[in-house]
Amino acid sequence: MTEKKVYLFANWKMYLDCDESVALAQALARTAASFSVTAQIAVFPTTLALRSVAEILSTSHVAIGAQNAYWVEKGGYTGETSVAMLPQIGVSYVLVGHSERRHLFHETNKDVQQKLEAAVAAGVTPVLCVGETQAERDLGTATEAIEAQLRAALGNVRWPLGKELYVAYEPVWAVGTGNACGVAEAEQERVLLKKIVNGLLPNVTVHILYGGSVRPENVAGYIGVAGFDGVLVGQASTQLKVWLDIIAQATDAATNI
Ligand code: PGA
Repeated sequence: MTEKKVYLFANWKMYLDCDESVALAQALARTAASFSVTAQIAVFPTTLALRSVAEILSTSHVAIGAQNAYWVEKGGYTGETSVAMLPQIGVSYVLVGHSERRHLFHETNKDVQQKLEAAVAAGVTPVLCVGETQAERDLGTATEAIEAQLRAALGNVRWPLGKELYVAYEPVWAVGTGNACGVAEAEQERVLLKKIVNGLLPNVTVHILYGGSVRPENVAGYIGVAGFDGVLVGQASTQLKVWLDIIAQATDAATNI
């Protein structure tokens, strides 16, 4: 029996306000000592709560990530928060290119590339999200869509030695729908994704996560069967009991490989 490290990232999106985020972080802090050392857990709260959540979890092994950030360091950019401002308040990860950012806020591949580059320069570890839409899947062009997103995001980034990258395969049709991707289909895309990323960044350690309607009942399939290194979880990560169940199931699946 081998034990592999498993990455469990909780994207709280805009589901929780500041007080609710603090309460959930406090509850997590109380249980964090029981998490397996093989599980690297990170939470991505609303920007409003980043500092408080980082302080609450500072003595635990739970890391903090931002859901979004802008690439310019400082200046007249009303409403934005720069990637460079994140480390000062204890934030070590940032989501880049989440499908809700791409589709609801019209982020382009060029924006994604600039955010990724800024994250790397600021010493913040990016979690790059890619995935095909339902229409692309129906047309049989999922692979091309994912490859185009990866090439656009990673093609020109100068990567410092030793820096890690996380890529989350998040089929757009599975995000927030309750319609999770089947294990076999997800595995097929994971293999492809890994090949493309390794080709683009041969010397970078890449962890590949699955995201899209992950629940306690299906998480083991992605980790134990489809070979993902972890999961990026939205709605289910905002309820303490469900999230703890996902952590337990995923840790088990990673232990029994
Ligand atoms: P979901 O979201 O788990 O609610 O589908 C996943 C994500 O957007 O990262």
